[in-house]
Amino acid sequence: MESDAGHVPVLLEETLELLAVSPGGLWVDGTLGLGGHAEAVLRATAPDGRLVGFDRDQEALERAGARLVPFGARVRLEHADYREIPQRLGDELASGILLDLGVSSLQLDDAERGFSFQREGPLDMRMDRSARGTAAELVNRMRESELADLIHEYGEEPFSRRIARAIVRAREAEPIETTTRLAEIVRRAAPRSRRPGFHPATRTFQALRIRTNRELDGLGEAIPRAAACLRSGGRLVVIAFHSLEDRAVKQAFRSLAGCGFSLLTRKPLRPGEAELRKNPRARSARLRALRREEAAA
Ligand SMILES: C[S@@+](CC[C@H](N)C(=O)[O-])C[C@H]1O[C@@H](n2cnc3c(N)ncnc32)[C@H](O)[C@@H]1O
Repeated sequence: MESDAGHVPVLLEETLELLAVSPGGLWVDGTLGLGGHAEAVLRATAPDGRLVGFDRDQEALERAGARLVPFGARVRLEHADYREIPQRLGDELASGILLDLGVSSLQLDDAERGFSFQREGPLDMRMDRSARGTAAELVNRMRESELADLIHEYGEEPFSRRIARAIVRAREAEPIETTTRLAEIVRRAAPRSRRPGFHPATRTFQALRIRTNRELDGLGEAIPRAAACLRSGGRLVVIAFHSLEDRAVKQAFRSLAGCGFSLLTRKPLRPGEAELRKNPRARSARLRALRREEAAA
């Protein structure tokens, strides 16, 4: 297995600072990915801080698990959705919880996972490969109007109707099974973008990925439920990667503010130039944080 030690997590310094990591305590990484944030949290909470790491991608858990072996019994891994944090923690309260939403480089870079329109692979896009329903099933089965609505809503794509029509025509000839075939259908249907380097299939792929993984379903409810698992003074940090996700986080945070929680970020933090030079994928990241107020004595 290739080492993930060189992988640099998004907004790492900001995350550690806003989580207020310190020795001891129980820390939750709801989206382990390659374990970069988790490793940094475990280092900063030595010698006895514990971390529970969640991911719904079994492969991510294996990779992160291998990276976190040096921390031994301080780590517990759960093949589960972060929406299950309350049930999985039981009565324990956390000092800090991190949700770094979205796709990992592991998923994007592996053609077989079908997330990238730049790599030929099966049109899969499932984060949890044991779950039912691939992106290919959506593309080949949904009605044209449903596809158009999906691409419009989750991709914020202005040419959603044209793209949906092109998809339906193409699949009449032959089912759409690969990433590159779908990317080509969309490229032909949508006018060329004026943004340099922007592939016309970007938004359609985003929409399909969100729907395949139901990424926005219940996000707004999952945040207050996770926040309720914090001990007093505990922190919740959420990193979102597209505007729909960030909007849900912002609204959930606003409704918690003043009700036992205080916002630590009025506006979301964005990566600086130096980080973007090293990691262009961090481009759309937006970090928000809140704190559970200390209980009155
Ligand atoms: C951006 S990556 C996390 C990267 C990680 N912070 C690191 O440092 O390597 C997001 C991860 O969250 C996982 N994920 C996305 N939605 C999830 C959910 N609802 N429950 C659990 N894991 C989820 C994905 O499978 C992916 O591995």
